Amino acid sequence: MPDRFDLPADFRWGAATAAYQIEGAVEEDGRGPSVWDVFAARPGAVRDGHTGAVACDHYHRYPEDIALMRGLGLDGYRFSVSWPRVLPTGAGAVNGAGLAFYDRLVDALLDAGITPLPTLFHWDLPQALEDEGGWLNRDTAYRFAEYATVMADRLGDRVPAWITLNEPFVHTVYGYALGTHAPGRTLMFEALPAAHHQLLAHGLAASVLHDRGLLAMLSNNLTPVEPASPSAEDTAAAEAYDALHNRLFTDPVLLGRYPDLSALGVPDDIFGAVHPGDIDLIHTPGLDGLGLNFYNPTRVAAPTGPGLPFDLVDIPDVPHTAFGWPVVPEALHRLLLNLRDLYGKALPPITITENGCSVTEDTVPDRPRIDFMAAHLDALARAVADGVDIRGYYTWSLLDNFEWAEGLFSQRFGLVHVDFATQRRTPKASYAWYRDLIAAHRARSLPH
Ligand code: BGC
Ligand code: BGC
Repeated sequence: MPDRFDLPADFRWGAATAAYQIEGAVEEDGRGPSVWDVFAARPGAVRDGHTGAVACDHYHRYPEDIALMRGLGLDGYRFSVSWPRVLPTGAGAVNGAGLAFYDRLVDALLDAGITPLPTLFHWDLPQALEDEGGWLNRDTAYRFAEYATVMADRLGDRVPAWITLNEPFVHTVYGYALGTHAPGRTLMFEALPAAHHQLLAHGLAASVLHDRGLLAMLSNNLTPVEPASPSAEDTAAAEAYDALHNRLFTDPVLLGRYPDLSALGVPDDIFGAVHPGDIDLIHTPGLDGLGLNFYNPTRVAAPTGPGLPFDLVDIPDVPHTAFGWPVVPEALHRLLLNLRDLYGKALPPITITENGCSVTEDTVPDRPRIDFMAAHLDALARAVADGVDIRGYYTWSLLDNFEWAEGLFSQRFGLVHVDFATQRRTPKASYAWYRDLIAAHRARSLPH
């Protein structure tokens, strides 16, 4: 595997995390409950009954974690803000002690020479808003804009660029359609108003950020979709899935229209959720950067029975991660070129805001992770050579953490191993590899 890549001198290297996955301290300093606290407490919801109550205890150990980032030589750190830490019931009075945590975090990052890249929503909705319908309730979008205002007013003097939402596709499908993530609703396609309300929230928050001279990004989980065969049936199924997974979350923002969802049985107004003027609210603010979270391509076949209009099938003959996800680095190259061809001038600069893999029995010599990162960076560098504007790469993840429904131990994604009993952090081989890669890139990029 190559350990050097032809990337622009100002290419930015980062690592990513999310609040509920690392912070812990769920009852500290006035934080309110989130949907994930409530969901994880349900018997059977999370593997081994784990919760994020302690997770990596990052709330207390952030100085040590920033020292690890500094050791890597990161340019940027992507984290998420816990909405219920700042606004315990999602709206109303600000919890000063909760907000102060992010103030300290941002200052400590800046002291370490690391640019903070916050995500405002990475799935931990305040439970009080879920009690009012969560993302199925249009009002949640307006509460989100108020929360964005609080954050931008407090940190905007030090934080230039913001990600509004993380992966509205995954949150809608796992949280509202299938129920395997919080809030555990099983609405199938009737979950899609939750997608529209998240996109509306994105648009409203992007306007808030722009009004303050700040940059707005959106992180989407995108996957190149391939039909299982060239047959008309498999091709139609693949197009239906592509509309749901990819275009639903990117077309309205970049093109100002929804894709055709009729193959899914979803009406144009998404069951009445789309009001006149909404598309403008989503599209007009514009997007300063597209965050791309990439894990794997998806192979789709025509359905074999009643139910969904597509079947997701495995991609055999390639390696799979501990999660069972196919490892196809070339798919990242293909996806980046597809985005360029599909959106043309409407496509803003791209930042890879997540990419990584879980490794079984993950220990310090994590060779499979190094191979995964190297192969994906090679694919990324080829897309740059093909003219795609890609500004940075944030690996998922800095630390082993609370992997949602999979709990703490089964899917370790970190460059740093975390012993959850002692909170001891041990850098893995991938940590040293990434550190050396960043240092070498910087050395080559210095003027001679
Ligand atoms: C996707 C991942 C996503 C995961 C949700 C997978 O099928 O490929 O990108 O994070 O589902 O747990
Ligand atoms: C999410 C992360 C998650 C990762 C691995 C992404 O879908 O944004 O929170 O840990 O994939 O499943």
